Amino acid sequence: MKPCTIIIFGARGDLSKKKLLPALYHLNIENRLTDDTKIICLGRAEVSHDEWQASVTEYVSTKARGGVDAAVLKNFLEKVSYFKSDINDANSYQTMANMIKDPTQGFSSNIVFYLSISPSLFGVVGDQLAAIGLNKEEDGWRHLVVEKPFGYDQKSAAELEAVLSRNFTEKQTYRIDHYLGKSTVQNVFVFRFANIFLEPLWNRNYIDHVQITHAEQQGVAGRAGYYDGSGAMRDMIQSHLLQVMTLIAMEPPADLNDESLRDEKVKVLKSIRPLTEDMVDSHAFRGQYAAGTVNGKPQEGYQEELIKEDDTKAGSVTETYAAMKLYVDNWRWRDVPFYLRTGKCMPESKATIAIRFKKPPQELFKGTDIGDSHANWITMGLQPDNTLRIELQAKKPGLEMTAHTVGLETVEVEDEAHKLDAYEAMLLNAILGDRSLFLRADEVDLAWKAVDPIIEKWSKEQDFVHKYEAGTWGPEEVSQILDNSCHAWRNDV
Ligand code: BG6
Repeated sequence: MKPCTIIIFGARGDLSKKKLLPALYHLNIENRLTDDTKIICLGRAEVSHDEWQASVTEYVSTKARGGVDAAVLKNFLEKVSYFKSDINDANSYQTMANMIKDPTQGFSSNIVFYLSISPSLFGVVGDQLAAIGLNKEEDGWRHLVVEKPFGYDQKSAAELEAVLSRNFTEKQTYRIDHYLGKSTVQNVFVFRFANIFLEPLWNRNYIDHVQITHAEQQGVAGRAGYYDGSGAMRDMIQSHLLQVMTLIAMEPPADLNDESLRDEKVKVLKSIRPLTEDMVDSHAFRGQYAAGTVNGKPQEGYQEELIKEDDTKAGSVTETYAAMKLYVDNWRWRDVPFYLRTGKCMPESKATIAIRFKKPPQELFKGTDIGDSHANWITMGLQPDNTLRIELQAKKPGLEMTAHTVGLETVEVEDEAHKLDAYEAMLLNAILGDRSLFLRADEVDLAWKAVDPIIEKWSKEQDFVHKYEAGTWGPEEVSQILDNSCHAWRNDV
């Protein structure tokens, strides 16, 4: 490990409090931050050193796995400082640069800039850093980490890209999709490429369809302002679920190098069958939660929550549930439907993959009690637990010719004291300069291209969105996008 200086823009924001600072604390426990690593937290407000140390102690203590370790916390706090800065003021940047460059202060000239701020400010920050040469890698490396949302559609993502690339090269840019930092998501890649028995089956000849689900019990209370401008298609499907899909569909990369990996993911995205406007209704579906009960507690409808935050938004048709069917038109996958769905206020919080295989070609057991054979499935739970299950048919013991489904299963329940947060992996990789968990510009562009026709059509249809009762699995009419009457969503994975 090399020492570095981590500069967090928007350090007083929610992401920094809930994810970034706790993740850095956990990396410190794991000895992944060198003694001379320093974390500069930037914010507009006047906050004294002692006040900031007290705040960081609170943020970290709330999230510390297995309780806070006083000695590690003390060591961590020695690394953290607060710096009052105004994003638009050149003097702020100059003062910060002077501080970093002052040898008596002990800052490393390897720098991670973490932009936990609105994307509309990325350009200003990039220009200001460039104006004082802080983007140049003359005396150390510079990594710029940017949070999602990366654009609002393909066009705005390209505009944002143009703004960033004015001052930072692709190699310096780390676009976050925190799903790639989840160990369970990384397991999809390991499961596929560390086992030989899957490969002969992993294609259109044997796989019938793939389902990727992200469900969460929580609604949008508290962030309806952001969410209403986004919706589930942009918020989850364009980013996280398409990324999971690429890991299921990609070819084995030449090696584990970040470019090799991303090249393969890009090939998948390039092969997605483009949607035309007349295809949208049969390939995508949206819903919005109405009042209901989630986890035994009453839940207000989206409209009510939204109006409390902004009454001008009454009648919004922003989707809190979205589903999409897509095809990857390449040799391996042509005509295999990939179904992606996500929703807020669902009965459970979980993320899963379910892969259904085709039925055996001969219905050997048709005249027996086994009857029509049940298809094989491979299911993977990505959260809350890491599960992997292969479903097979086996004969029930006894005289009768009957079968039942048995599962070969692994369940790894991580106890809270050991559960890594995706941001730990993301921050560590940003420090190490490993971009395999980050999105390349062409990946972002192609992911937008896949969903843009849906978003565009929906934006024109401002009068209709299917309602579903909070605490249910979404509107039943979603089945209209399923290809085949035998296809049904699996909610039991
Ligand atoms: C974020 C979305 O990117 O991912 C949220 O903006 C969503 O709306 C969250 O709740 C889900 O992430 P996780 O890790 O909790 O599944």
